[in-house]
Amino acid sequence: MNTRKKATILVVDDEKGVRQSFDLVLKDSYQVLLSGSGSEARGVLSKRKVDIVLLDIMLPDINGMDLLQSIKETDPNTEVIMVTAVKEIQTAVKAIKMGAYEYIIKPFMVDDVLTIISRALEKKKLVEQVAYLKDELDRYGKFERIVGSDKKMLEIFELIRSICDSDGAVLIQGESGTGKELVARAVHNQSSRKSCPFIVINCAAIPKTLMESELFGHIKGAFTGATNTIIGKLELADRGTAFLDDIDCLEVNMQAKLLRVIQEKEFERLGSNKVIKSDVRFLAASNKNLPDLIEKGLFREDLFYRLNVFPIFIPPLRERRGDIPVLLAHFLEQHAKRSGKPRRSFSQEALNILTEYDWPGNVRELQNLVERLATITKEPVIGLRNLNTLSIGRKPIKDMTLKDAVNAFERQYITDVLDSVGYSRKKASELLGVHRNTLLSRMTELEIKAE
Ligand SMILES: Nc1ncnc2c1ncn2[C@@H]1O[C@H](COP(=O)(O)OP(=O)(O)OP(=O)(O)O)[C@@H](O)[C@H]1O
Ligand SMILES: [Mg+2]
Repeated sequence: MNTRKKATILVVDDEKGVRQSFDLVLKDSYQVLLSGSGSEARGVLSKRKVDIVLLDIMLPDINGMDLLQSIKETDPNTEVIMVTAVKEIQTAVKAIKMGAYEYIIKPFMVDDVLTIISRALEKKKLVEQVAYLKDELDRYGKFERIVGSDKKMLEIFELIRSICDSDGAVLIQGESGTGKELVARAVHNQSSRKSCPFIVINCAAIPKTLMESELFGHIKGAFTGATNTIIGKLELADRGTAFLDDIDCLEVNMQAKLLRVIQEKEFERLGSNKVIKSDVRFLAASNKNLPDLIEKGLFREDLFYRLNVFPIFIPPLRERRGDIPVLLAHFLEQHAKRSGKPRRSFSQEALNILTEYDWPGNVRELQNLVERLATITKEPVIGLRNLNTLSIGRKPIKDMTLKDAVNAFERQYITDVLDSVGYSRKKASELLGVHRNTLLSRMTELEIKAE
């Protein structure tokens, strides 16, 4: 995780010689800051983000233990390593109970110091990753592979490949359920940021009053109820990607604040004036027409242009029907894997109906339908009859002439019966109570396929 930026280490010690020797040992691998007193250290900490503090227990002005406590309160992710003389070991042990990572005894061995620091950084990285993975786990299963074979989708895949290594913002637009979040994840997963966090900020779900703290974080006491320092999503997304979902739901005044962060790449936690620099790539999604919202004064035009560096428009499923069969197969496969049951398939007639259906809920609707069908169908092949139990595939007939409506009904009914008897025309004509030849001619007239 630490490939882009050197970790920052703050050395706090009143002895100049000690500061200098730490500096000498550390400066090749780390960015080193030096403070000769507790108050100087506080000054540095209020302005800079520090990964590790090497803290002398005996300081002239502030008790090292008090400083440890306030560092941990401000940012629990900062690791503190106490530096102590042999006679103060009891205090060092107490410091560890209070959250210090380790202690180093003066005079120190260079190798020991380097090992402890790299272990502390490793731990810090793990803690950050665990928090991130927990969040990811909640979403696991919902977001697996992205599939598609329609020309329009293949173009989107190509577009994703071509923009993934730029740092320019991406605005993903499309109806609900078309796969905007999946595309956002694909952009992140194919980029050089992939080993760093992908942080989702759901602008529709976060209450407006909490949005600012959610994005930027806040310090303890920033407002009533702020009992702890909380790190904001944009800070968590450092070196990774922030995905602003349903960006149209962001209030106009927050839009202005967000714009500033995108431009300056820095912000402050609520209640603090310490500037936090965060290297974030921004992705945003919306199922609204943003230019319309701009007209109405609900969306800032400047933010729109900032986000729309790379526009991706995902067409609704009904405009890329070529994807329907592969999506159906994909979700059947997923169901089989998850349930441990044999993989089902669709009959040709069922496939035809599903490919013609308009899918107002797009891929999400299709995914839910496959899930339900695969669960309730006992047979290996899912046919028209099974679709009918869910009343899918019947087009609304209110806009048709009576003749067309009757034909549509007859076509559907005959197809259902044929499907239920494995396309035996003999059995179907018996069930329908018509002569076999009548059935055959109706099938020709109504263009019902004979398989
Ligand atoms: N091309 C695809 N391949 C595989 N799964 C897909 C594809 N497109 C969408 N899905 C699945 O469909 C569901 C809906 O996708 P997603 O949540 O990304 O849609 P969305 O556009 O963000 O919807 P909304 O606007 O409602 O938030 C998800 O479970 C996703 O995994
Ligand atoms: Mg979404």
